[in-house]
Amino acid sequence: MMWVEEILEKLDHKLEAECGRMGHKIPYIAQDGHYQADMRDVNLSWWTNGFWAGMLWQMYHATGKDCYKTVAEYTEEALDGALENFEGLHHDVGFMWMLSAAADYGQTGNPAARRRALHAATLLAGRYNPDAQFIRAWNQDKTGWMIIDCMMNLSLLFWAARETGDVRFSKIACHHADTAARVLMREDGSCNHIAVLNPENGELLETPAGQGYAPGSSWSRGQAWAVYGFALAFRNSGNARYLDIAKRAAHYFIANVGMTGFVSLVDFRAPKEPVQWDTTATACAACGLLEIAGLVEEPEQELYAFYGEQILHALAKYHLDLEPERDGILQNGTAAYHREEDTQVRIIYGDYFFTEGILRLLNQQITIW
Ligand code: GLY
Repeated sequence: MMWVEEILEKLDHKLEAECGRMGHKIPYIAQDGHYQADMRDVNLSWWTNGFWAGMLWQMYHATGKDCYKTVAEYTEEALDGALENFEGLHHDVGFMWMLSAAADYGQTGNPAARRRALHAATLLAGRYNPDAQFIRAWNQDKTGWMIIDCMMNLSLLFWAARETGDVRFSKIACHHADTAARVLMREDGSCNHIAVLNPENGELLETPAGQGYAPGSSWSRGQAWAVYGFALAFRNSGNARYLDIAKRAAHYFIANVGMTGFVSLVDFRAPKEPVQWDTTATACAACGLLEIAGLVEEPEQELYAFYGEQILHALAKYHLDLEPERDGILQNGTAAYHREEDTQVRIIYGDYFFTEGILRLLNQQITIW
């Protein structure tokens, strides 16, 4: 695939330039083509703080260039402050330490990186509610809240179970996935972002809107978390029910992006105007589709591989900025439907998933999740 190889070459050039500019900074959203804020100062515990390191570990694996490894290591070390002040952390520790420490450990065998990832897994397991059988998402009074995003965090628990031989980690992950299947997934393959449960018994109380348009609508990044997250839960547990759910979520995603040139709107059930893209959801779902393609046999395999590639191609054609002087790769990402200031912007997790997707098409990715 010529177009993919060309993109990787330019991506490498651009990310090397970004590494040179960033030094020890941790990026999140680029403003006017530049990462101005440093998340170490803004909020070290912010859920996206591992994506920069994860993207650099992917590129280190693909190119062998030391600059990627060095900068990824800076981020991982900086995140020690967040582990120490753990009260600022929510359930996103999977995103944060799978992409930084566990990715490092997988590449280098660094024992300090393994310790960090196990520490994060222990914090995640500590958020489990055994009566209601879910991992709570957020802190303060949100004792019964779980969200679809957490499907991606479960990989940290499966990893910890393999690393330590302690099945408690994987059992918690499976119990959470079962509850997510019950309260977050809908019959038609779409999903809720949030479910509020009675923390005493797991009874479903409410499904508020979250980052999508409204309750009952269909936030596309949440849908992408469902596609990729349930596929990963199947790969990590072998439970075929999770693969069925991932496929149903994938079919719903494909049907919806099929109406908009294979790039997702922020919410599939929002009013037609204004048109708001979320390329981060698109890139994440593409990785999920390629993950599913690797988990099924032909002739099914071809379907998921085809749409994974089509979607990445559409992003590359219409939403990419490979100019080395500017920060941020994927344009038109949106953090949340109603957060105007973070709409149609370059967001670090969009860049991460686009990079992972491109490397997947070339079979040069590392398995981080
Ligand atoms: N709540 C994490 C996300 O924006 O997807």
